[in-house]
Amino acid sequence: MSQKIDVRASPTTSCSASDVLGRPTWAEIHLDHLTENFRALRTRVGPQVKILAAVKADAYGHDAVIVARHLEELGCHWFGVALPEEGIALREAGVTRPILCLGGFYNNQAPLLLEYELTPTIYDREMLERLNAAARLRGLIAPYHLKVDTGMGRLGVPLAELEEFLDRLDSYSHVKMDGLLTHLASANEPRQDEFTRRQIERFHRAMELVRRAGYRPTYYHLASSAAIYAYPESWGNMVRPGGALYGLFSAAPELRPVMSLHTRIILVKTVPAGAPLGYGGTFVTRRESRIATLPIGYQDGYCRAFSNTARVIIRQRYAPVVGRVSMDLTLIDVTDVPGARVGDEVVLLGEKDGLSVTATELARKAHTISYEITCGISRRVPRVAV
Ligand SMILES: Cc1ncc(COP(=O)(O)O)c(C=O)c1O
Repeated sequence: MSQKIDVRASPTTSCSASDVLGRPTWAEIHLDHLTENFRALRTRVGPQVKILAAVKADAYGHDAVIVARHLEELGCHWFGVALPEEGIALREAGVTRPILCLGGFYNNQAPLLLEYELTPTIYDREMLERLNAAARLRGLIAPYHLKVDTGMGRLGVPLAELEEFLDRLDSYSHVKMDGLLTHLASANEPRQDEFTRRQIERFHRAMELVRRAGYRPTYYHLASSAAIYAYPESWGNMVRPGGALYGLFSAAPELRPVMSLHTRIILVKTVPAGAPLGYGGTFVTRRESRIATLPIGYQDGYCRAFSNTARVIIRQRYAPVVGRVSMDLTLIDVTDVPGARVGDEVVLLGEKDGLSVTATELARKAHTISYEITCGISRRVPRVAV
């Protein structure tokens, strides 16, 4: 189902995305914006601090292969995925830089980590045992990053148990601690500043314990997008931006949105006043109206929560979504858009003609965050690198 078209590599670079696709619904991945955002982050953290780009969850829906290949060209040092499967997909696409599996690994995946040169995050002894056994079998020393829980409460060796954990590391002779990390829970919540500072302090304590136990990991990292902006003292020698790279981070408005979402009108009808539209007839026309049908719906990740609330850009104007968004189709009211007709391009997320619909705006309507909007654009929507 998933389709990926890299317009850069295509002989038909003058075609628009919808000329080369079936259903005219697509997401554009703006590599120029990704470049700008990456460089802005580079400049912010300076040359001493390495960047691990979070490309997990298919690069927050932007297509991990498109994103990682591009960032690799720009000199990004590391990539972060959630699952080994995601790392394997990157390796198979030719990505060669180090990849950290932020969520560790499952069951019998240790040999795969070694085969594909993926570095796992380790957060309990059993995982370490499995990694060590797989590495011994191959006669290798496998690197890993140790995760400490300093207050997030998800993954990580609790700080209180770290000393005991370190005391028993000697028995694993085929692994090497190459990084130490933690994750901050509330770096984007100014009201929880004290909590974040406490997490940073706990991480420093963890570093001390690790060094005292005789380990010298190459990397120390705890900052994702929010902390990169709000807590420079948390940068360590590597930072892990995700949302900031994709321009989803509203605290840094200079960062540009990397994804835009497009479709084209497939039908326009004139309907009389008083006509109910869509499932449940939740919108009733108040005047004779021109209603356009768009070939996109909630299966594509254009949320049902946008029913009767979202707006789109068409012919240099905003037009409202009317009626319920259904699985494959959405209606918009184009009565106030002179000349709107079948084939017109509609921007559902993104900027056009000085107008914009941001992921943050859409997220508010769905009571969620901007990340979930781009993550939610399904694989039925082809990604087009532009
Ligand atoms: C461990 C870890 N590091 C880094 C990130 C990137 O966070 P952000 O997208 O807010 O920069 C995430 C995202 O959830 C994460 O779980």
